[in-house]
Amino acid sequence: MFDLSGRVVLVTGSSRGIGRAIALELGRAGSNVVVHHRANAARADAVRAELVKAGVEARVVSGDVTDLESIGRFVRTAGEWKGRLDGVVTTAGVYRGTGIEETGPNDFSSVLRTDLEGTFRTVQSSLPYLRKSVRPAVVTVSSVLGAHAGVGAVAYQAAKAGVEQLTRALALELAPRIRVNAVAPGFIRTDMNRGGHEDPKYRAMVAAATPLGRWGEPEDVAPVVRYLLSLEADWVTGLVLGVDGGIALR
Ligand SMILES: NC(=O)c1ccc[n+]([C@@H]2O[C@H](COP(=O)([O-])OP(=O)(O)OC[C@H]3O[C@@H](n4cnc5c(N)ncnc54)[C@H](OP(=O)(O)O)[C@@H]3O)[C@@H](O)[C@H]2O)c1
Repeated sequence: MFDLSGRVVLVTGSSRGIGRAIALELGRAGSNVVVHHRANAARADAVRAELVKAGVEARVVSGDVTDLESIGRFVRTAGEWKGRLDGVVTTAGVYRGTGIEETGPNDFSSVLRTDLEGTFRTVQSSLPYLRKSVRPAVVTVSSVLGAHAGVGAVAYQAAKAGVEQLTRALALELAPRIRVNAVAPGFIRTDMNRGGHEDPKYRAMVAAATPLGRWGEPEDVAPVVRYLLSLEADWVTGLVLGVDGGIALR
């Protein structure tokens, strides 16, 4: 089930956190993986080494998703590696927990440029390589905050809502050749929210608010991405799939 043998997938933001878990899961499914990072070369290389140990091919590319030329460069390197991309997963992202009063002039645009425009430009730049695949698929990464409002993190919520509608718009525009779906994780223990899960009160509050009773791990998200990239999902496009322990039900 959900075999990805011989496929070639670029995972942005896969040096750590959710992207790392996705890269490793795709490797377990047989996919060759392009591991991407912005600054953490050592951690990206460690992910590459784990993938090679698991028996697939892997390479590392780097670049800033807020910079169009940089995206062009790393996507070209990824696409020319095997002459095509069968999948692109846009995990690279940042979080700012600021509300309306604390969000400065650059804070809003920097989150939008990374999380929303970075997603769009990565997919746009990947198109020539995705079109060379027989069954290409894209998975974007939203958040439970893409459709459910919370206090604070105004720019992040706006960006993730944008990612969800972008996913639907791209799914329609790129059908029938390229499928485009999103995952919307709930609270996942990564560097992004280390302050939260290391704080006992906040940690307990999130676990209590999550119907399935605990924080998510990056490994909870990765198999869902594997499914969305697989041929078993061949008739699934434009979907935003919550991977959130049920917190969106609240
Ligand atoms: N953690 C959660 O609870 C949660 C919940 C819902 C959604 N998400 C989403 O899931 C995705 C991954 O989150 P995470 O928690 O795994 O984050 P993380 O541990 O902070 O990792 C972020 C990744 O994105 C890369 N990155 C950040 N800014 C970049 C930029 N400007 N250009 C290129 N790469 C950049 C980082 O590269 P370097 O290592 O080189 O810095 C790293 O690989 C994000 O889109 C996030 O919004 C997370």
